[in-house]
Amino acid sequence: MSTESAPLFRGTGLVKEYSRSRGIFKQRTVFRAVDDVTLEVRRGETLALVGESGSGKSTTARLAARLVDVTSGTVEFEGQDVTHLKGSDLRDFRSAVQVIFQDPYSSLNPKHSVERLVTAPLVYQKRKIPGGARAFARDLMARVGLNPDHSERYPSQFSGGQAQRIGIARALAAGPRLVICDEAVSALDVSVQAQVINLLRELQADEGFGYLFIAHDLAVVRQIATRVAVMHQGRIVETGPRDVVFDHPQDDYTKTLLQAVPRIDPEWDRRRREAQQARRAGSIATAAEEEGR
Ligand SMILES: Nc1ncnc2c1ncn2[C@@H]1O[C@H](COP(=O)(O)OP(=O)(O)OP(=O)(O)O)[C@@H](O)[C@H]1O
Ligand SMILES: [Mg+2]
Repeated sequence: MSTESAPLFRGTGLVKEYSRSRGIFKQRTVFRAVDDVTLEVRRGETLALVGESGSGKSTTARLAARLVDVTSGTVEFEGQDVTHLKGSDLRDFRSAVQVIFQDPYSSLNPKHSVERLVTAPLVYQKRKIPGGARAFARDLMARVGLNPDHSERYPSQFSGGQAQRIGIARALAAGPRLVICDEAVSALDVSVQAQVINLLRELQADEGFGYLFIAHDLAVVRQIATRVAVMHQGRIVETGPRDVVFDHPQDDYTKTLLQAVPRIDPEWDRRRREAQQARRAGSIATAAEEEGR
C-alpha cells in the first residue's frame, strides 16, 4: 500500500494483555484489556471510540500512541509499520501523534509557565523555536483562544477550559498529524465543553488532523464524530458512520449503550472535581513529562 493512499492510522488485530492475580492463592491470570481490535483513522476525520468504563478505550489509545507495547497486532502510521519503533524514530512518531488527556491540570506541570509548557515539544524535538519562545507561545495562545499576555502565568491561574486549551496549544506545537483525545472534554462544564469542541473542529479544518476521540458522553460524540466505533469488553462490536451507528445501531450492546443515561452521574462528577482541585493545589509531575513527551 502506498503511503499516500494509506489511512493516517491503522491498528490491526491489536491485543493488550495484563496479568492479574486472582483468588485466595493469588493465581496469575491473563486478562485481555484489548482483544483483537482493528481500527483506522483517516486524515481530517474524527473516529469516536465509545463504550462503558473498562471496555478498553484508553488502552487502545495508549497502544495507538505507542505509550504501551502491544501484546500482538500491528500499529501503522502514514503507511509505515510503527509497532516496534525505537529511539529517534519513536521520538519522531511521538511528535506526530499527540495525546490530550481528561484532566488538564494533571498533564501540565504546575511549576512551569504557559510559555515553557507550550514550547516544551520543540525542546523535546531539539528544534529551534521560530521567532523565539515568547513570540511562539503568544502565537499559539492566540490560536487556541487564550490571551497571549498571559504566557508567563502558571496552570493554576487558569480555569479548567483554559487549562485544556493550554494542553491543546502544547499538542499543536509538536506539529501532530494524529491527535488522540482521551476524554479530553469530559471534565468540563457543558458550555465550556462546546467551546473546546469548536476549537478542536476549527483546528482540524485548518490542519487536517485525524482525531481518535474517546468519550463516554454520547452527546459529545454526536457533535464531533465522523465515524463511531463501539467497544465492549476489549472488542469493537460495531463501527460505522456516526448517523448510521446512532440512528440504526445493529449490535445489541450498541443499542443498550444508546439507551443509557447520557450524562455522568453526580457522585462521579463530585469525586472528579475534588480530585482535580487536589491536583491543582499540589505539584504532581505530569504523566506526559514522565513519559518524556
Ligand atoms: N496497566 C494496567 N494493568 C492492569 N490492568 C489494566 C491496566 N490498564 C488498564 N487495565 C485494565 O484494562 C481494562 C480496560 O481499561 P481502560 O482504561 O482501557 O478502559 P476504558 O474504556 O478507558 O475505561 P474508562 O471509560 O473508565 O476510562 C480495565 O479492566 C482496566 O482495569
Ligand atoms: Mg479511559
